[in-house]
Amino acid sequence: MALLDRLRRIVSDANVLTEDIDGFVTDWRKRAKGNALCVVRPGNSTEVSAVVKACAAAGVSIVPQGGNTGLVVGSIPDESGTQVLMSLQRMNAVRAIDGDNLTITVEAGCVLQNLQAAAAQAGFLFPLSLGSEGSCTIGGNLSTNAGGTQVVRYGNTRELCLGLEVVTAEGEVMNGLVGLRKDNTGYDLRDVFIGAEGTLGIITAATMKLFPLPAATLTAWAAVPSMDEAVRFLGLAHHHLGPGLTGFEVMNQFSLSLVDKHYPQLRVPLWKETPWCVLLENADSESEAHARSRFEALMEAAMEAGCVTDAVVAESLAQARNLWHIRESITLAQAEEGLNIKHDISIPISAIPEFVRITDAELAAHIPGARFVDFGHLGDGNLHYNVQSPEEQDYREFQRLYEDKINDIVYESVRRFGGSISAEHGVGEMKVDRLPDFKDPVALEMMRRIKRAFDPHNTLNPGRVVRV
Ligand code: FAD
Ligand code: MLT
Ligand code: ZN
Repeated sequence: MALLDRLRRIVSDANVLTEDIDGFVTDWRKRAKGNALCVVRPGNSTEVSAVVKACAAAGVSIVPQGGNTGLVVGSIPDESGTQVLMSLQRMNAVRAIDGDNLTITVEAGCVLQNLQAAAAQAGFLFPLSLGSEGSCTIGGNLSTNAGGTQVVRYGNTRELCLGLEVVTAEGEVMNGLVGLRKDNTGYDLRDVFIGAEGTLGIITAATMKLFPLPAATLTAWAAVPSMDEAVRFLGLAHHHLGPGLTGFEVMNQFSLSLVDKHYPQLRVPLWKETPWCVLLENADSESEAHARSRFEALMEAAMEAGCVTDAVVAESLAQARNLWHIRESITLAQAEEGLNIKHDISIPISAIPEFVRITDAELAAHIPGARFVDFGHLGDGNLHYNVQSPEEQDYREFQRLYEDKINDIVYESVRRFGGSISAEHGVGEMKVDRLPDFKDPVALEMMRRIKRAFDPHNTLNPGRVVRV
């Protein structure tokens, strides 16, 4: 085929794959499997540009892919076998670190963990942190505006980005790799590409912010009697730690029972005696002693107020890592237990206890035996409010029978509480048909106009985020 030959000439034969591509066309949760004309793996932005031009000339659409860890079916091609899957994984270089400017410039395919390591090696912190950091890429993080566990202090990926290099739908290279913290020269195109899930352009490189490494980091795991008390505990943590509060994660008993069941070697603490646990982190710029005194004051106040009934403070880096490892293992333990109905919602923090009470009751009334895997980034008002099939029921049958009903109940409740149906994972294909029910109609129409202006022939990740 003429297009395949052209692509081979651009990136070399070895980087156009047509066989053994299951890993590229199956989504992380194994919910969906697509098919591709080929997988193309460009090695630099000039090659990305040439591939985009060749596909545009042939009228073939492109699905960009980083680590393929996305959770909303946005990074795999559809089933037609006519789309080109563009993997950015070969473009993984750290281009530059500017210590005085506190910036790092990396290619889009750089794996997040490697970016964190490059920053640390230069004596800085790159704070974005997700359970998938060993395989997700910064291009994917930017395209989904990923959140993760440090948002309460450092913000989402958007807040960490200063500049982008992007290949447009026409194949032009937009060089916006600026390391400026102030630049009011018109419309902010960077922010349009961030969170666009590959529908407006292909991110090829980015300039990201760096931060000083903290002098000390303390991690604690606390038993909490209710979601109301978890919210009160969060308020106390803000009050006592100020900007030192870098993480505040909540996990219900069932989610931790799944980790205990599938990964008993992790030895989950305290979970059996309490309905909720909180994992919190305090990073201090002064010293270990300063961190400890503030952390101890917080825990004392929380115990006195009845927000916390028991707690363990990690005594070593290894213990702290293990506590985080337990938290990050919930997604994997859920996958081991079988397919579940996932939600990634945000609600004003003050309304979360009432949301959980009401929505739990409604689900229990309509979905017999459903099990709730509730966990998430309470510090950001972001819950992963997931529903698992009853133990004795086949999970595919459960999905077939109840997925729509469960989504209706949860999303309607989210609407009543003024929340969002996608806090950090994005829209992808999974939520594209739900979006019109939840997005302001004027905003949705503006999104369609932006899509038409940036990608007039609808060749970049069509059918994801917004239908035109
Ligand atoms: P992919 O999955 O490859 O792609 C995601 C989307 O971005 C797709 O629409 C794709 O087309 C597009 N895309 C990818 N690269 C580019 C590019 N260079 N240019 C344009 N478009 C591109 N997410 C969170 O927000 N917070 C979490 O805490 C979190 N934890 C996770 C834990 C686990 C165990 C797993 C499996 C996933 C988790 N995720 C989380 C979801 C996922 O890791 C993030 O969405 C991540 O940002 C995706 O990065 P990726 O490189 O894998 O992108
Ligand atoms: C997390 O917070 O662990 C992730 O967003 C993944 C998930 O929701 O399963
Ligand atoms: Zn999350």
